[in-house]
Amino acid sequence: MKKINKLFSKTKSMPLDIFLDKVLYNRDFGYYQKKNPFGEKGDFITAPNISNLFGEMITIWLVSFWKKLKKPKKINFIEMGPGNGDLCLSILRTLRNFPKVHNSINILLYERSETLRKIQRKRIVSEKVAWIKNLKTIKDGPVIFFGNEFLDALPIKQFKKINGILFEKYVEMNKNNINFFFKKKINKKIKKLTNFKIIKNNIIIEYPEHGFRELELVCKKIKQLNGGALFIDYGYLKENNFDTLQSVINHKFNDIRKNIGDADITSLVNFNLYKKYFNMKNLSVDKVISQSEFLQKLGIMERYKILSNRLDKKEQSNLYGRIKRLIHPKMMGENFKVIFAKNKKCNFTIDLN
Ligand SMILES: C[S@@+](CC[C@H](N)C(=O)[O-])C[C@H]1O[C@@H](n2cnc3c(N)ncnc32)[C@H](O)[C@@H]1O
Repeated sequence: MKKINKLFSKTKSMPLDIFLDKVLYNRDFGYYQKKNPFGEKGDFITAPNISNLFGEMITIWLVSFWKKLKKPKKINFIEMGPGNGDLCLSILRTLRNFPKVHNSINILLYERSETLRKIQRKRIVSEKVAWIKNLKTIKDGPVIFFGNEFLDALPIKQFKKINGILFEKYVEMNKNNINFFFKKKINKKIKKLTNFKIIKNNIIIEYPEHGFRELELVCKKIKQLNGGALFIDYGYLKENNFDTLQSVINHKFNDIRKNIGDADITSLVNFNLYKKYFNMKNLSVDKVISQSEFLQKLGIMERYKILSNRLDKKEQSNLYGRIKRLIHPKMMGENFKVIFAKNKKCNFTIDLN
């Protein structure tokens, strides 16, 4: 708590996104700097942690994209926010079956947390993998960007419309308690919101300024070097009009104002807004589809059938349970969605056509 108090020593209050940035990524006490949050012993489990088959399917998708790009001799695959490195390890394992792609690929890991970078370096030992701190350093293409649960982990801004006037959510510290309040806001930010026309029918507006900032270079590289970007995350397609911030600790929801720095805080991804953003940057975007549809089109059930022939009953049911978790509509299947943005020259589609 002392460290969090320091946050407010120079300022009485700060906009929500600045607060989130500090409590999640501050070098001394940020959540992602001090914890390995993944897995049963952590706070949450992501798709690559659930089953190696998730990584296998992403590799199949990647190999198909490489073919569509006319089998380039060199390709950069950039994983945004690789977490504990599970997905990268799955991809490296699966690529052994595709030696030509294995030869041509460079895997670049883009990770903000030093703690997670250390964990990744320890687990991933391969001459195919390098770490980058800035996307500007990518000079060769084609480029394929990928992020699982990357966008939801980026700080957002929140606005509220009262009698047609916009107020921005701020955070203050009062007697060791975190309070939220809304402050009248008239500045350039509002212009950005109007550009996206998201204020029209909304009362609560969530604006992913940090997400757009990260994607700025992603889009630039795709336009310069050819390729595309695939993001998978939990989120929604229709206008939402509610506050989607959520906090999780030890696999349970937590009051956002409690366990600051020890709990993860994320928001649901507004896929329509990201689609508009990519379009505005002159990329083309396929129809956003569910994780369930995506993984099934890539053949996850067929792969399960092949693998299950080699497994005993207990192992079969374990694997089936994991796949169900990934694709069942009431589990991750529908809540998680997939967005694919690409260079306009590129005719590869999200479902491999
Ligand atoms: C919710 S985790 C997802 C991890 C992994 N992709 C998975 O599915 O298991 C979010 C990841 O994004 C990283 N991250 C967040 N903001 C980042 C940024 N601006 N640049 C690079 N990595 C970032 C976090 O440190 C973490 O590794």
